Amino acid sequence: MNKETRKAVIAGNWKMNKTPSETTALINEMKPLVADANCDVVLCVPFIDIAAAVEAAKGSNIKIGAENVHFKESGAYTGEVSAAMLKEAGVEYVVIGHSERRTYFGETDQTVNLRTLAALNAGLKPIICVGETLEQRELGYTETLLKFQTKMALTNVSAEDMKNVIIAYEPVWAIGTGVTATDDQADEGNGFVRAALLEKYGKDVAEATTIQYGGSMNAKNAESLVAKYNVDGGLIGGASLKAEDFSIIVKAASK
Ligand code: 13P
Repeated sequence: MNKETRKAVIAGNWKMNKTPSETTALINEMKPLVADANCDVVLCVPFIDIAAAVEAAKGSNIKIGAENVHFKESGAYTGEVSAAMLKEAGVEYVVIGHSERRTYFGETDQTVNLRTLAALNAGLKPIICVGETLEQRELGYTETLLKFQTKMALTNVSAEDMKNVIIAYEPVWAIGTGVTATDDQADEGNGFVRAALLEKYGKDVAEATTIQYGGSMNAKNAESLVAKYNVDGGLIGGASLKAEDFSIIVKAASK
């Protein structure tokens, strides 16, 4: 990555894992292992675990994120959680548009955009996920799709707001499959996202925005992935549930 213009961010996405007491235990285990990180360290946890996570992370360099946010400020939206609720609970980051939400819960590019705007409006930092399926890759649509998803997610997001936006390139075929993109595929995908930012906002924003790679990143492959120019850290699923593996990834991004 380009350390002169961008800071690496390693974020765990716990998905639907860990109870509140397990959250406390895992964060307590992680804290000393990541204390000397030279990158930002974030854990995105289930809503029910946020209070425990914020409490356990107090006084450490671990920041807490959520895994989704609703786009309305309040109202009759049973089961949803607003940006203001997250902010008051001590959340700083929020994953938006994860492929699991797009696939299983009907997220669209429009709702991803609305959630992004709501997050920014409340002072949260969105981690917006984009990525192609294997079929889309094989049909040759990767670049078109990544640029489209990126630009759609950022509709009405200003250049100034981009200081608080992280984008995660997560090829769907690499998520939870153990199949990682090669270093060059990750760099290329992240590069397509950066090219979309260049087209939409110009060079300064494109060069300054943190773009993570996600999809079976682990303790073994993290170092060579984050060494790539366009890979500014990672969004980590499975490996973020193991303190030692996660800390090895944090160290790889701290070099
Ligand atoms: P895995 O690291 O388990 O493949 O998950 C990646 C991911 O979806 C992070 O958001």
